[in-house]
Amino acid sequence: PDAAVAMPSGDLVVSGVSLTELADRFGTPGYVLDLPTLRAQCRAYRALDAEIAYAGKAFLCRRMARLIAEEGLSLDVCSGGELTTALSAGFPAERILLHGNAKTDAELRAAAHAGVGRVVVDSLAEIDRLSGAQDVLIRVTPGVDGHTHRAVATGVEDQKFGVSLAGGQAAVAVARVLARPELRLVGLHCHLGSQITDIAAYEEAVRRLVAFLAEIAVRHGAALPQLNLGGGHAVAYCPGDAAFDLRCFASRIPRVLTDECRKHGLLPPRLTLEPGRAIAARAGLTLYRVVTVKHSSARTYVAVDGGFSDNPRAELYGARYTARLVGRFSNAQKRAMHVVGRHCEAGDVLIPDAQLPSDIRTGDLLAVPCTGAYHHSMASTYNLVPRPPVLTVDDGEAELWVRRETEDDILRRDTP
Ligand code: LLP
Repeated sequence: PDAAVAMPSGDLVVSGVSLTELADRFGTPGYVLDLPTLRAQCRAYRALDAEIAYAGKAFLCRRMARLIAEEGLSLDVCSGGELTTALSAGFPAERILLHGNAKTDAELRAAAHAGVGRVVVDSLAEIDRLSGAQDVLIRVTPGVDGHTHRAVATGVEDQKFGVSLAGGQAAVAVARVLARPELRLVGLHCHLGSQITDIAAYEEAVRRLVAFLAEIAVRHGAALPQLNLGGGHAVAYCPGDAAFDLRCFASRIPRVLTDECRKHGLLPPRLTLEPGRAIAARAGLTLYRVVTVKHSSARTYVAVDGGFSDNPRAELYGARYTARLVGRFSNAQKRAMHVVGRHCEAGDVLIPDAQLPSDIRTGDLLAVPCTGAYHHSMASTYNLVPRPPVLTVDDGEAELWVRRETEDDILRRDTP
């Protein structure tokens, strides 16, 4: 978080809370979320002339849903679990969008029962499975490459998400929704992928979707009022990483939208954006305790009390992180060493070649920044390691948002 202040003692204080004290009080590993950073990100997005639907997949719990509601954002959910969590927090159903390429009947029913504002239809078959009055968007695969990691590139053709624009399924989907009087087609959706910095890709998506809106207007006489451009805005995990330039996006996208609409004689639809990572990532950090330091002939391994189960991103996507010694001041020369997790696979390397003081030792505390998005939400109990808690800090106060999982929690699901 930008609010972190380094103390001469070596401690790190975030929004008035000492990370050393936090680790002593709540144990490690633990996720720490800085609420002022979270709120600032919400407000930066709210300042745009667009509806902002936070993508709950990045991180969601009831308190988070409440914060998102308070900040005036809408919410993108992609499962019954996320929907239940949001509703249980009192999040207004009409501000929820339901996503998913394989929504179950139970999820569609739950959404209808709750009065979820919009369902984002992902396939032709799903249209026939919708029942009752419902506002829908159609998720279109625009055939635009956002130039990101293969695992999170969703704008390109030959893809499990959406209905293809070029392949003509998108036009079929539109006709099918319009043929169902109880469904109200309110707009189009596309999501190019995640961790994208290329704003030209969004411009291209706008051009293609507006051309399609024009086609819909001509063929069906329907002017769709919403255009949802999904999320995908990149953040910098390490110093020097490129990040998404929101200011540039905000100055270019509405202009392209207006120009394209004018060209086709359309009124510009209202934009919706679905940032997840860009809202939550930089507000979070993970605290680990060093369990053991091993000096091999090739390198030094610093093993911590977490790893793949609380951060699968390092191994899944080769995502890079930094680590910082917290809680004591060290003059020792920094050297490259591998920060590794505790899990039973050799690939559980959290940070290859992390720069850490050479006197690093058992009991030291490490902070890994930028873990507020897709960390807790992707955590597992691999090796039956319980999941870490989520702690928040704000104005000198720490609060527990999600408690630490216990071994009893793990046993509770298990038939004796
Ligand atoms: N909207 C839709 C329909 C999405 O599928 C996603 C992310 C988002 C919005 C939010 O994207 P964001 O702004 O957070 O990039 N586990 C991966 C990320 C997967 C993203 C999936 N969809 C990771 O840890 O990098």
